[in-house]
Amino acid sequence: MTSATDVLVEDAKPGVRLFRLNRPQALNALRTQLLEELAQAFAAARDDAAVRAVVMTGDARAFAAGADIKEMAERSAVEVLQMDRRASFWQSFRQFPKPLIAAVNGFALGGGCELAMCADIIVAGEGAKFGQPEINLGIMPGAGGTQRLARTVGKSLAMKMVLTGEPIDARTALAAGLIAEVVPPELCVDRALELAETIAAKAPIAVRLAKEAVIKAEEMPLEAALDHERKLFTLLFATEDRREGVAAFIEKRKPQFEGR
Ligand code: CAA
Repeated sequence: MTSATDVLVEDAKPGVRLFRLNRPQALNALRTQLLEELAQAFAAARDDAAVRAVVMTGDARAFAAGADIKEMAERSAVEVLQMDRRASFWQSFRQFPKPLIAAVNGFALGGGCELAMCADIIVAGEGAKFGQPEINLGIMPGAGGTQRLARTVGKSLAMKMVLTGEPIDARTALAAGLIAEVVPPELCVDRALELAETIAAKAPIAVRLAKEAVIKAEEMPLEAALDHERKLFTLLFATEDRREGVAAFIEKRKPQFEGR
């Protein structure tokens, strides 16, 4: 395990890297240093062919309680506008091309909720709370909250969360489609790692293109997205892994995918 200060990085399972946000004393508030370390961890995972899926988590009390309010207290509008570095860190989380699973226990608030929503799959422990409380500070979500919530849970619940600042619990998040599973809190990271390990054993190029296609469902008009899906699907017929997958099925054995 390498021990950067704000983010701990561990190769937790074959093909699966685990990022743990590590500012428990501040409920993993997302100070710039943490975002920078996280961006570095994502870049390293992206470039390492041995990493086929990533799980990110916090601790039992908080996934992350949002932007670091103390750090941003004295910032002027001009300074916020000029914070290109922070924006580029967020962009790198959104654009991570490999499967990303968030294991959320405790608070996922403000930027913490937005960070969880950068994941492809969210698994939450009972007791997790998802919210956008920025309105209580006289501001609003600024790292995707209004857009992602509206697209994921629909306008009415998104408005309720953004305008009241009140969080929703894990069961409500599950019913709204924000998260994929609710599990006992002590099993949350294990369950996320289990899902990641399952995905890590699949054909990496197929996984990558399938992720890309699902993301387009949120971003493109249906006809264009269907066309895009068809092209990605066709592309996979050029891979060795496709041959291996089909051959293994016919020969009644487990496929050995190589990412080619
Ligand atoms: N920034 C900085 N420090 C934070 C923090 C944050 N977002 N959230 C919690 N902390 C700190 C607290 O100041 C406290 O530190 P001290 O012990 O030094 O006082 C420590 O973490 C523990 O927090 P609490 O004592 O407040 O714990 P609690 O259990 O009583 O309350 C909580 C928990 C309800 C989550 C409360 O901490 C809280 O409301 N936090 C702020 C949540 C928030 O407003 N997030 C949105 C931030 S804005 C944003 O996210 C915008 C963006 O990204 C674009």
